[in-house]
Amino acid sequence: MSYQLQHQESINNPEQYWRRQASKLAWYQQPTQTLSYTDGNDPESYQWFADGELNLSYLTLDYHVEHGRGDQVAIFYDSPVTGVQTSYTYAQLRDEVACFAGVLQKHGVSKGDRVVIYMPMIPQAAIAMLAVARLGAIHSVVFGGFAAHELAVRIDDAEPKVVVSASHGIEPHRLVPYKPLLDKAIEKAEFKPQASIIYQRLQVPADKQVKLDLNPGFDFDWQTEMSAAQPVAPVAVKSTDPLYILYTSGTTGKPKGVVRDSGGYATALHFSMQSVYNLKPGDTMFTASDVGWVVGHSYIVYGPLLLGCSTVLYEGKPVFTPDAGAFWRIAEQYQAKVIFAAPTAFRAIRKEDPNGDFLKHYDLSRVETIFMAGERLDPATYEWAQDVSGKPVVDHWWQTESGWPICANPTGIETLATKVGSSSVPVPGYQVQVLDDLGEPVAANQQGNIVIQLPLPPGCLAGIWQNPERFRSSYLQQFPGYYSSGDGGYIDEDGYVFIMGRTDDVINVAGHRLSTGEMEEVVASHSAVAECCVIGAHDSLKGQQPLGLGIMKNGVDISAEQLEKELVALVREEIGALACFKTVVVVKRLPKTRSGKILRKIVRNIADGQSYSVPSTIDDPESLAEIAEALAQRTTS
Ligand code: COA
Ligand code: AMP
Repeated sequence: MSYQLQHQESINNPEQYWRRQASKLAWYQQPTQTLSYTDGNDPESYQWFADGELNLSYLTLDYHVEHGRGDQVAIFYDSPVTGVQTSYTYAQLRDEVACFAGVLQKHGVSKGDRVVIYMPMIPQAAIAMLAVARLGAIHSVVFGGFAAHELAVRIDDAEPKVVVSASHGIEPHRLVPYKPLLDKAIEKAEFKPQASIIYQRLQVPADKQVKLDLNPGFDFDWQTEMSAAQPVAPVAVKSTDPLYILYTSGTTGKPKGVVRDSGGYATALHFSMQSVYNLKPGDTMFTASDVGWVVGHSYIVYGPLLLGCSTVLYEGKPVFTPDAGAFWRIAEQYQAKVIFAAPTAFRAIRKEDPNGDFLKHYDLSRVETIFMAGERLDPATYEWAQDVSGKPVVDHWWQTESGWPICANPTGIETLATKVGSSSVPVPGYQVQVLDDLGEPVAANQQGNIVIQLPLPPGCLAGIWQNPERFRSSYLQQFPGYYSSGDGGYIDEDGYVFIMGRTDDVINVAGHRLSTGEMEEVVASHSAVAECCVIGAHDSLKGQQPLGLGIMKNGVDISAEQLEKELVALVREEIGALACFKTVVVVKRLPKTRSGKILRKIVRNIADGQSYSVPSTIDDPESLAEIAEALAQRTTS
């Protein structure tokens, strides 16, 4: 069936379409209900496969072992930062996961309990995720680049029974000691977990090891626990039971705990592995992300394993570990059919290897397509990647909330013509539209708010953890009947979607989603700061970089340089290194409307050297010239 027909069917007859997709999974209890409503009068109360029962650890592991894939590699672990390369077959991974589920069970974890996982890109992170799923519990993975405060905020919200962590992560130029960060987070958090299980990284060179201090009775050593563990069988959960909570940046300092269901997610991932990525059981997928992000959840761990593929878990960077040929080496070594990474990664490779010389050393004949997502794919990077690799490059758009692509060139259904700058067309299941601020549809090629008509297809967020009101106000309230994506853009006359950027205070730094609101809260907490704003300024490598503007309190005795140093350290301490918060410019005033709203968009335009029109509501027009001058001085100094 062509893309057009499939998309039409998915919108006109979603029940029939998704029932067919769901029937391809080995449910314990096949659902008889496909799309149902908890409240018949409320179109927002939809659920997918409500009476179905399944277990994602079973579907990703045991099922494949039972069907002849026990000896196939499930995970290739490739770690240039430690020199370790190893792999796990499906049978080995199933056994490790079953035993670790036994460890968690021994520590009291059962169906519905939460487990926070704070780990680097090592196989034990995936093992922990799948073990939690095996028990019908709910995992919440926290990206390793987040500092103790961010971890504490997530612990307080998710209230985990157990935390799983590792001795340390390894960045190319430094070790990241997770255990002290975890200790600090637990001390800071109001909610106290019952136990932590720590993986000590001993299989790495001596200079890459750190000594662990385990707190007796609270911290347990992963390896000791595993040596005495009893394997546990998968526990059946309802399709609507949460599989995980994944925190993502919103506009405030408190991250949003996106809740993912089990049955809808399994169906959507299984479908997308074939329809979007054109993968088949036995193929290898190489997704260069991190298990701390949604891309890692969906296309390093769950998606590839649901389909019976091999996945690459890569602990390294696109460049300098050891060089700009790393992605191409991996693609050759593990026979990857798909490479998936953020445009930033390819911009970094291009910077180091503009002519693609490294690539010439590797055989990429197995690679079918390079996928990119996480931020806008600029035409120059798109063209470069396509030219040097000779492979089709697919830009696709999605979010933590969707869990899988909303727009893509659906290469497994039909390869459509590409339009540079567009993430192509809505994937079956998604009815994407553009509305103006009053909720009226706009004409083709007109920019507006990108929305998706309800019901969202299977796999998308089921809510915000313990906060139905925030779910409504963040996503459903602005345009009744639609999910509001927070992205702006347009759809052209052929139905191609162009995502132009966020309409809120979320920025994208190296494909990492961050909240400027959250950074502002941290900056404002400094005793010398009277007022501040943080914006995302254009950056040729990372897409955007945060830029802070601060007004000092009267009478404080601190130089602008010292204040900047302290604020940079404070954001790093509170949010983490990944925020890349490096610049604060001290100004006398900030541009505001008469009602006191800071005109952040104009500040961004000034920082990016773009033209802007001065709104009639501005309170203090001279502040604009002053900011332009302060920023210009900063650039030239
Ligand atoms: N644990 C701890 N710290 C981490 C981390 C992790 N998992 N990941 C990043 N950091 C730290 C880095 O060490 C760095 O710290 P520093 O200020 O001490 O140097 C900081 O966070 C910024 O990291 P990064 O964005 O990786 O910057 P970089 O300059 O080291 O590398 C790139 C530049 C382009 C190579 C890198 O940004 C990259 O690989 N980008 C693609 C990321 C990606 O895949 N995003 C998509 C997610 S879907
Ligand atoms: P995250 O939730 O971290 O995956 O970030 C999602 C956000 O990243 C989206 O709301 C977009 O702003 C941006 N994004 C992701 N993919 C794309 C893309 N292909 N093109 C443009 N922006 C993208």
